[in-house]
Amino acid sequence: MIVFLLGFMGSGKSFYAKGLSEHLHVPFVDLDQFIEREQAMSISEIFEKMGEPAFRTLESIALKQVYADLLVRTTETQDKNGILGVISCGGGTPCFNENMDWMNKHGLTIWVNPAEEIIWERLMKERKTRPLVASLTAESLREFIHQKMLERKPYYEKAQEVIFQSNITIPEFVNTIKHAKNLL
Ligand code: S3P
Repeated sequence: MIVFLLGFMGSGKSFYAKGLSEHLHVPFVDLDQFIEREQAMSISEIFEKMGEPAFRTLESIALKQVYADLLVRTTETQDKNGILGVISCGGGTPCFNENMDWMNKHGLTIWVNPAEEIIWERLMKERKTRPLVASLTAESLREFIHQKMLERKPYYEKAQEVIFQSNITIPEFVNTIKHAKNLL
């Protein structure tokens, strides 16, 4: 089984994907980093040169490719809970091209969902690398997060499990996965 981590920019998906991968001894792939390597461009450059619709197409193709690559790579690395690997999605991945339904069919989807205030604090520090928020002021960033979250919630809410705490430990995260697997 592949675990898909999803959630808003700055929610901590990449942090948890790396932690889970180390804890479970299975590979993880960050979808944005994969796209950047494939295209030999940063996400900001892709948005600038090709536009967001082209990025969304690349993102959906990359999602399926990364999933297939992990399945091939991981027959020996499967952990004892049957987890083959972890994919950290971009914030918008679930909201385009029916990716959310596809992920729900192909693995375990977990929404990393800290409070908007926490997301705002993180994005204030890291917004320059994210084209959708790079030019926003502190106040407009707060409003953007709120509005975008409303728009995206219907997709995120389709996840099979939700993590609300912003400081959950990796072992606690693993327990959430085990719990979710029993529910499935
Ligand atoms: C995006 C989130 C980013 C990246 C791109 C678009 C979004 O990923 O895919 O900038 O639409 O929310 P992170 O969530 O990893 O920052």
